[in-house]
Amino acid sequence: MATIRPFDSADAPAVAALIERCLREVNSRDYPSEVIERMCDHFTEQRITELAIQRQMVVAEDDGIVGTVSRDGNKVYTMFVHPRVARRGIGRLLMRHVEELATIDGYDHMETGASITGHDFYRRLGYIDVRSTETEFGLNYILRRSLP
Ligand SMILES: CC(C)(COP(=O)(O)OP(=O)(O)OC[C@H]1O[C@@H](n2cnc3c(N)ncnc32)[C@H](O)[C@@H]1OP(=O)(O)O)[C@@H](O)C(=O)NCCC(=O)NCCS
Repeated sequence: MATIRPFDSADAPAVAALIERCLREVNSRDYPSEVIERMCDHFTEQRITELAIQRQMVVAEDDGIVGTVSRDGNKVYTMFVHPRVARRGIGRLLMRHVEELATIDGYDHMETGASITGHDFYRRLGYIDVRSTETEFGLNYILRRSLP
């Protein structure tokens, strides 16, 4: 079973590689190649290191890093699980972890921006559509879930 722990700066290469793998293997089914390339160019090791300073980033570890998510208050970002271990509950585990952190901070709801690829995953976790937006990375859904 994967364990969740805080991101460490030494994780940046593994997290960047994980994100690139997801983008090329999974998100590429829903987005044109130029969007995938733009996203791959965006999530460099350096960008991951910078984002981990601005946000609270965690990783799921199970014989290496197999997932990651980050949050800024009650906003969720960079949710990725390695395709090799998809559909085994790691995404849910990561989301519940950042939701608990947000609850402790006093937030009454969580908000996420979902790609087309991640949309049904979030709905399965109880998130409800608020609106959709067009971003530099294509169509994005904004969803929310009430926190206990
Ligand atoms: C979306 C993603 C994070 C899901 O991670 P995961 O570890 O496979 O998800 P889980 O196994 O925890 O699944 C939780 C629930 O969502 C469902 N689910 C997961 N992916 C789904 C999908 N693509 N479509 C529909 N349901 C999905 C699972 O069946 C499970 O439901 P259940 O509890 O009823 O069995 C992962 O597939 C991924 O990284 N995708 C590529 C990157 C991406 O799109 N990230 C989201 C950015 S917005």
